[in-house]
Amino acid sequence: MACVIVVGSQWGDEGKGKVVDLLTERVQGIVRFQGGNNAGHTLVVGGEKFILHLIPSGVLHPGKKCFVGNGVVVDPEVFLGEMDRLTARGVEAGPGKLRLSERAHLIMPYHKALDLAREKAKGGAAIGTTGRGIGPCYEDKVSRVGVRAVDLLEPEILQAKIEANVAEKNFWLTQYYKEEPLDAGAIYQQYLAFGQRLAPYITDVALELDEMLEAGQSLLFEGAQGTHLDIDHGTYPFVTSSNPVAGSACCGSGVGVTKLGPVLGLVKAYTTRVGGGPFPTELEDENGKWLRDQGAEYGSTTGRPRRCGWLDAVVVKHSVRLSGIEGLCLTKLDVLTGLKKLRLCVGYRLPDGSTMHSVPASLAKLAQCQPIYEDLEGWQEDITSVRRYQDLPAACRTYLERLVQVVGAPLAMVSVGADREATIMMKDVFAQ
Ligand code: IMP
Repeated sequence: MACVIVVGSQWGDEGKGKVVDLLTERVQGIVRFQGGNNAGHTLVVGGEKFILHLIPSGVLHPGKKCFVGNGVVVDPEVFLGEMDRLTARGVEAGPGKLRLSERAHLIMPYHKALDLAREKAKGGAAIGTTGRGIGPCYEDKVSRVGVRAVDLLEPEILQAKIEANVAEKNFWLTQYYKEEPLDAGAIYQQYLAFGQRLAPYITDVALELDEMLEAGQSLLFEGAQGTHLDIDHGTYPFVTSSNPVAGSACCGSGVGVTKLGPVLGLVKAYTTRVGGGPFPTELEDENGKWLRDQGAEYGSTTGRPRRCGWLDAVVVKHSVRLSGIEGLCLTKLDVLTGLKKLRLCVGYRLPDGSTMHSVPASLAKLAQCQPIYEDLEGWQEDITSVRRYQDLPAACRTYLERLVQVVGAPLAMVSVGADREATIMMKDVFAQ
């Protein structure tokens, strides 16, 4: 029995989809525990492309149970839309397979309206959110006025909550942001209908997960976004509104902390970021363009081009510490093939000449951080068919070994291409 947690160790988009897909074969249940449909996984199975934002990608595997935990914020329309699209393509997505926590908070139309209105009002200082209503939904959860999945099953409570919320949100929307008001009655009718369809899926996820663990089954906790987008530990305020660190798997699913582990950290072979915020190793030159083009670095949720830069080992080391990462899953190594020289950021230098090896809380300070680079040789050989670590080009191994040394965690797997098979397995994470 294992509860493997997979988290992103950069700013999201580390290529979790493939790693999660590989690990899914070894578990009986897959759990999402934070975030919402701001995430996006593109998967190719049997030549067919699937993009999932909310439902765990494990749904594509027959016989696996997929859970959306209480820590996730759920847009019911997106959940149902994904379910319908899967069903239309012959993928089983019924309540025997897909479970939604009764405690999960729901994204409401006013959350999306507020998200967009706020970003518009911020102008050049915008966070660059995905516009999916994630932040405002988590705000309502913490303010104790949120609508939970369980409320869909209790129409009177649902109606009262929607009316109270719409009255307040309309004030903000119309008076402060000068936007159109929303209609509480229409939202209630829409959510009532969602509730009728979702009722068979809504359950006590924590209880069901506990039953699986009691039966000796293994679970995979699929993190969304990345550590440096964490509301507490990330580059605040240019962060998401949940906790992508591994510890959040406990609160966001209801599985006790002593049951969880091992923890794996996803690391892309270079760095990307979408939206605003500091990014010390960002490249706005030919190398940055190379990474974006070779790595197809465009958001699967918003289609935005991702900002690209050299691998920042300071960022990864920080994440290894925050999440207790025990194994690195290195992705997209093949994207670096063909570059003559590579740079690895191993520290930051401040204007006063001092150095840092962690990410400062002050964004003003982070903006002043100059990367301390180590220059390494690139490699020209195609590595996509390599399956054993020792068969990688020497320059490639040197790059990986230096990364491992700086961040202080070993490699668990290395992905050398988009296909499932294009993977070098270094360690059996289930054999603990
Ligand atoms: P929000 O999560 O939509 O509120 O967006 C807040 C910040 O997190 C923005 O910079 C987004 O671009 C970023 N973000 C949210 N989800 C993801 C993701 O799955 N990958 C990468 N960045 C994300």
